[in-house]
Amino acid sequence: MREPQLTRRGLLAGGAATAVGALAACAPEQTASPGRSVAGTASTPASPAGGLAVEPFHGLHQAGVATPPQAHAVFVGLDLLPGTDRDAVVRMMQLLTDDARRLTGGRPALADTEPELAVLPSRLTVTFGFGPGLFTAAGVEDRRPASIAPLPGFAIDKLRKEWTGGDLLLQICAEDGLALAHTLRMIIKDARSFTRVRWTQRGFRSGPQTQAPGLTHRNLMGQLDGTVNPRPGTPDFDRAVWVSDGPGWLHGGTTLVLRRIRAELETWDAADRVAREFTIGRRLDNGAPLTGQAEHDEPDFGRLTPAGFPVISEQAHIRRAHVKDPNMRILRRVYNYDEGLTSEGHADSGLLFASYQADITRQFLPIQKSLAEADLLNEWTTPIGSAVFAVPPGCSPGGWIGETLLA
Ligand code: HEM
Repeated sequence: MREPQLTRRGLLAGGAATAVGALAACAPEQTASPGRSVAGTASTPASPAGGLAVEPFHGLHQAGVATPPQAHAVFVGLDLLPGTDRDAVVRMMQLLTDDARRLTGGRPALADTEPELAVLPSRLTVTFGFGPGLFTAAGVEDRRPASIAPLPGFAIDKLRKEWTGGDLLLQICAEDGLALAHTLRMIIKDARSFTRVRWTQRGFRSGPQTQAPGLTHRNLMGQLDGTVNPRPGTPDFDRAVWVSDGPGWLHGGTTLVLRRIRAELETWDAADRVAREFTIGRRLDNGAPLTGQAEHDEPDFGRLTPAGFPVISEQAHIRRAHVKDPNMRILRRVYNYDEGLTSEGHADSGLLFASYQADITRQFLPIQKSLAEADLLNEWTTPIGSAVFAVPPGCSPGGWIGETLLA
């Protein structure tokens, strides 16, 4: 299909109605499904299946939450420029949705400057979130869930403003760093007429070439991270993650708490294996609880040592973080970060701790509070950034992300 003669400038300048019509006219049907190839792309014959794999963009939920985590991620916090009102936010979200729809489907964005970079999406997902400031700017403050606000302070926090807050979240994930970088560039080109970048946080996990899908990934402290997590496709996941009560516009959406947590790897190096396993309450080799044999064995929090002490310490991370009711769990979809070395050769590493839940106040905050009070892991980890977003539901092929709030 030939792209209609439509310029980005025209979209940016035009009113909301113009933009909707224009986008609908030039948004071809998505042709590929998960794991299926993008039809008719130039590189099809030589490209391995992984490069061509597509995650569906449309649906009740945005992709990038229940989606099995891809190897690369970038989270970008954007601030709306002064004077960006509701109409402008609508135009921006229509434009960015169109970019995301095309690029995740393996098709160039409108006026893509490097269209060849769009043809191997590699399970690309683009997820949008709305921070507190967006509700104010768009004049829909009354529809902001109370928990979409800065978290209360915790004694362990050493938050830095360069990693904290933000009006709009852009989360891009892909198995391939090139697909991710191209998508980020194309979307930011459109976003920058409305926003200024507040922070950019890049993360990584082991990719499918390295580790079989479905296995728990390891963080830079060497631990298996993600053992106890709601499993997509189960009723427990749906109840824990997707909003189904509260504001109607957010039904099918979720909320995200993104914490940047520095890992003090130099001092962690000094802790021996016993201390490291005691800190978490799990073995390092296979992730089994200290009371069990295999990773998914249920921890026995009541078991005592012969001397009468709990085998899994009262301050062990998994005891402090444990939540009995599966509906009250959080979805941890975390990424490692490793930003380069200090002049002394020390790492600047840690976790982009991305937690998705239906309700921050009921689910995330009690866990964070319990950890802040007495988690042994606090000795080696420091939250240095924090941001909170409402993640609107997904959209249909003719729709745009945010329409339930802003249309
Ligand atoms: C750098 C910081 C952190 C590291 C390295 C870390 C590491 C781990 C590890 C190794 C486990 C055990 C395996 C698993 O179930 O995934 C775990 C479990 C868990 N963590 Fe963390 N974690 C960190 C921060 C946090 C934070 C900030 C929260 C929430 C506010 C959290 C919540 C949980 C929960 C809910 C579990 C499962 C507990 C259960 O067994 O029921 N973690 N974490």
